[in-house]
Amino acid sequence: MLELNSVDAFYGQAHILHDISLSLATGGRLAVLGRNGAGKSTLLKSIMNAGPRVRGEVRLEGELLDGIGASDRVRRGLSLVPEDRRIFTHISVKENILLAQQGTERKSGLPTLEEVIARFPLLRDLVNRLGGQLSGGQQQVLAVARAIAARPRLMLLDEPTEGLAPVIVEDLAEKIVEACATYGIGILLAEQNLWFARQCTSRVLLLDSGSLVFSGDWAEFDASTDLVERYLAV
Ligand SMILES: Nc1ncnc2c1ncn2[C@@H]1O[C@H](COP(=O)(O)OP(=O)(O)O)[C@@H](O)[C@H]1O
Ligand SMILES: [Mg+2]
Repeated sequence: MLELNSVDAFYGQAHILHDISLSLATGGRLAVLGRNGAGKSTLLKSIMNAGPRVRGEVRLEGELLDGIGASDRVRRGLSLVPEDRRIFTHISVKENILLAQQGTERKSGLPTLEEVIARFPLLRDLVNRLGGQLSGGQQQVLAVARAIAARPRLMLLDEPTEGLAPVIVEDLAEKIVEACATYGIGILLAEQNLWFARQCTSRVLLLDSGSLVFSGDWAEFDASTDLVERYLAV
């Protein structure tokens, strides 16, 4: 479904990503690991065309996305949950979810508000609260729920566990996997929490200084015993 061939990304003159190629099948679930500054967010933003200047091919369902803006990529089924969440603070939780559903081309097969709330029960007592009144953790759960509500083909998640309490992290992994399996949503997850990444995905990429240093499934990742120490330990 998603394919990158020799992608380089730049902020101004700064060359951040180097020769990244990857492919992800429909409904596939891929983790992107790497230390702070490795280029995980830049990779997700490059796929979304939301910031960096990109060279190389990004294809969705075989089609080149050259020159296609971020909002059109949303219409084509990509959805980014960025690191700063971008919850609308002046409207309610319910309206945040309904608004996300209006932004999609898909007119049938969207989960109802009740279904979304049932999948993310933490939001149940908050539906009428303003986005800006939620805690950071609640906003993060809303950002994920909102993305799923729009039923994208592929959801790009940028470190959704950052700052979350451990008990919420555990629960969120399960909820994300269940919902994405039900609605046929693929996952590209940038994470530093190995446990969470493992729960949510079946394959893994490792970035170091903007280059790919490993690609494989989790069994292969575990078999390469020095990866964690070399590329993830602080
Ligand atoms: N808007 C920007 N302008 C210039 N450099 C940036 C910008 N955003 C990120 N960078 C740089 O790009 C590199 C990769 O950052 P990022 O993709 O955010 O890494 P990660 O998400 O893995 O922590 C870092 O060296 C960072 O300083
Ligand atoms: Mg990041």
